[in-house]
Amino acid sequence: MKHKIAPSLLAADFLNLQRAVEIVNKSEADWLHLDVMDGVFVPNISFGFSVLNALKEVCLKPMDVHLMIVEPQRFISQVADVGAYMMNVHYEACTHLHRTVAAIKEAGMKAGVTLNPHTPISLLEDIIQDVDMVLLMSVNPGFGGQPFIMHTIDKTVRLKEMIRNKGLDTMIEIDGGLNMETAKQMVDAGADILVAGSFVFKSADPTKAIHDLKML
Ligand code: DX5
Ligand code: ZN
Repeated sequence: MKHKIAPSLLAADFLNLQRAVEIVNKSEADWLHLDVMDGVFVPNISFGFSVLNALKEVCLKPMDVHLMIVEPQRFISQVADVGAYMMNVHYEACTHLHRTVAAIKEAGMKAGVTLNPHTPISLLEDIIQDVDMVLLMSVNPGFGGQPFIMHTIDKTVRLKEMIRNKGLDTMIEIDGGLNMETAKQMVDAGADILVAGSFVFKSADPTKAIHDLKML
């Protein structure tokens, strides 16, 4: 399967979010990645549900919502109301992850589990059969524009192996520090979806940047 591209709106011009979404709509992007931060789980605050609800009116791509917040299970119905396709919760933020994953699916969304760079994939051993996607952070979450953590390559190879050994079809998404070089390494390592913020929205031609990533 050809890899998917999910541009992250975090790096877009916040004075022109509609314009950014329309660029994504008309591009070869597969999903739109939306980063919600609470200032507690991560040392930054981005945007919340009022912004997501406004974006839903103009967004034509499936929304891939990445919640960098504590106790994300409290917001499942609000994420569902936005019309999200995928709801990503952090492993580190969920005490009852099995229950949370079930509730996300019950609400009609795909369930994604996200791992911080230091969180080992071995912790997924008894939950991976229930999740639709694993999102591996290739930077520490909270900010765009950080350098890619090279260890993610080996981590992705091992995760792919775990998925294959179990006979699953769980998707692997990579988020942070992706450019043409690191994105290529991730595709080769087995990534199914690439999130790109700065590489897309800080470039002179976001449509071309998305195309170039898609062609890898
Ligand atoms: C970081 C976010 C990322 C971010 C990636 O906490 O989860 O989605 O937008 O930005 P770049 O691609 O600039 O590293
Ligand atoms: Zn993200």
